[in-house]
Amino acid sequence: MKNPTLETILHRRSIRKYTDQPVEPEKLDLLLQAAMAAPSAMNCKPWEFVVITDPEKLALFRSRLIFGNRNAPAAIVVCGNPSLSTNPAARLFWVEDCSAATENILIAAVGLGLGTVWVGVHPVAEFVRIVRKIADLPKHVTPLGLIYVGYPAEEKPSRTQYAADRVHLQQYGKDK
Ligand SMILES: Cc1cc2nc3c(=O)[nH]c(=O)nc-3n(C[C@H](O)[C@H](O)[C@H](O)COP(=O)(O)O)c2cc1C
Repeated sequence: MKNPTLETILHRRSIRKYTDQPVEPEKLDLLLQAAMAAPSAMNCKPWEFVVITDPEKLALFRSRLIFGNRNAPAAIVVCGNPSLSTNPAARLFWVEDCSAATENILIAAVGLGLGTVWVGVHPVAEFVRIVRKIADLPKHVTPLGLIYVGYPAEEKPSRTQYAADRVHLQQYGKDK
């Protein structure tokens, strides 16, 4: 069965090598539209995004984040700002909300011919400190992660990682 949505999801892979081609601002904008279409607890949307194309800042990310040394021409810092949540109960869910927005960016990028990799930041205090400094984030805004964006200089096969033993029917541990 051909299913374009599923094919796009399976085609998303972490891309860690990029060409020098800059990402068009219109495409970055489309990625942010995808991000902000994500579901969020009580629709509070406690997210903010810092788009970075400044080569000096990108070089700082590369040199300071030990797992973030990727040569992409753009990065999006996905930030949680719980003070944007009008509902105190929804405020607890900012990580989930920002993760949903992040995944939307990764999937949308596939459809635009772009590659991405999610570099984890929160909850590692040192990574949060580094990204907060480079992106000039105030204390109440926490970087959940950094997404590198660019045109891929490596190819990876589509794949599912479906594992039947991770699926339980009706009750945990029951045979199917
Ligand atoms: C929360 C999170 C943090 C991650 N952090 C990094 C990272 O710091 N550096 C990196 O190169 N990849 C990072 N990744 C990407 C994973 O390594 C990658 O998704 C995983 O190996 C599966 O490969 P795939 O994305 O190609 O399916 C991260 C992914 C997630 C979800």
